[in-house]
Amino acid sequence: MRPEGSAPSARDLLALSLGTTVDNAGPGAEEASQSFRPRRLSPPTGERWHGTPHQVRIAGCGKYLPERVLTNHDLATFVDTTDEWIRARTGIQERRIASTEETTSSLSINAARGALATAGLTPDDLDLIIVCTFTGDYGGMPNVASVVQHALGANRAGAFDINAACSGFVYGLGVAHGLVASGLHRTILLIGAETLSRYLDWHDRTTCVLFGDGAGAVIITGEATATGTSTNRPQSGGLMSLVLGADGAGANALLVPAGGTRLPPSYESIDARQHFIKMDGKDVYRFAVSTVPDACAEAIANAGLTVDDIDLFVLHQANVRIIRAVVEALGGSWDRAFVNVDRYGNTSAASVPIALCEAVEMGRLKPGDRVLVAGFGGGLTWGAAVIEWSPFAGLTNPD
Ligand code: ACO
Repeated sequence: MRPEGSAPSARDLLALSLGTTVDNAGPGAEEASQSFRPRRLSPPTGERWHGTPHQVRIAGCGKYLPERVLTNHDLATFVDTTDEWIRARTGIQERRIASTEETTSSLSINAARGALATAGLTPDDLDLIIVCTFTGDYGGMPNVASVVQHALGANRAGAFDINAACSGFVYGLGVAHGLVASGLHRTILLIGAETLSRYLDWHDRTTCVLFGDGAGAVIITGEATATGTSTNRPQSGGLMSLVLGADGAGANALLVPAGGTRLPPSYESIDARQHFIKMDGKDVYRFAVSTVPDACAEAIANAGLTVDDIDLFVLHQANVRIIRAVVEALGGSWDRAFVNVDRYGNTSAASVPIALCEAVEMGRLKPGDRVLVAGFGGGLTWGAAVIEWSPFAGLTNPD
């Protein structure tokens, strides 16, 4: 049983440091109690789209970072750590923390609006919404994508989530590309979003200094190929290669032990802090620097390119030392590596789409560029892909 008069919770500690109160009910609880009336489905459009092969491209991107900045110096006021240690070991200087009103779906919705604006599209254009996350609004269901679908008013869209931890967005790229290339869907909103601060044990300095909250989104769409033949290798734009991998033998290196079917929530699991992220940092580090370079090299070769053809490396932003090790192992030039882990920390499935979007905003990613993306993390899972970047038809910068 839970002892009476226990120490302040981790969220209380964080709230104290941020000068906020913690509202546990959140907006979702209120929505869930409202009565539901099924809506009528949109009539069929009669468009000839289904079943014919299509050339795929990324047509827009958006990002959202919570306003609240938590610097290393702020952290050091309530965690036994220092700015020097965090900078030297990870390259992180600060991260964003969601407000108590924000959830993974609200971060996603903001990023999605930016992606739609840059693509010059509306929610009615969406056939499917995919959210890559392991920090959903609810404890299992509904999925985040359905909450986003409703909030956007994307009335024609299906919705599901992908959980491949920090590799999630790269897995999502593969799923979305396949659905559009095959002609099963025309336009997909693909989001990577995490509210990791709710899964952090602020008493555990080996993990809580590493992560942050945020969301990034892209629009994936297609055009019918002139010949009607599928190549899955578009002449311009889209995914040129994809490598996905997993090694469940390493699952215990990075996990949230409790809250699922293996260890359902209980007073004991909560008191043992097992509903927070646990990580063997050294194992994950070794895994990242040995597996990710090989996956990236394979993705580059499968695209028919060499490392010198890659204009930008957008690797998962977990640790600047890992990014540097991967780029060096590939023989790539460091000035082509995109880094924002210093400002946002590790945002898991959100890190690659946030970085892609920021690279576009900064003019570092232009139409025709070949960009290598890679994710790695819980599972253990990894993924790497080469994308040829496409022009956007809408606003160049929705912010
Ligand atoms: N502040 C100060 N000291 C600390 C902190 C901290 N925040 N954390 C650990 N230390 C101490 C340790 O206790 C240890 O002290 P000791 O030598 O007296 O025992 C010392 O610092 C060194 O600790 P190490 O764990 O050896 O540090 P290391 O150099 O391995 O760096 C790190 C740790 C940054 C976590 C590194 O291992 C790493 O980056 N791992 C990969 C993490 C990662 O990328 N995870 C996410 C994957 S993505 C996903 O799916 C969620």
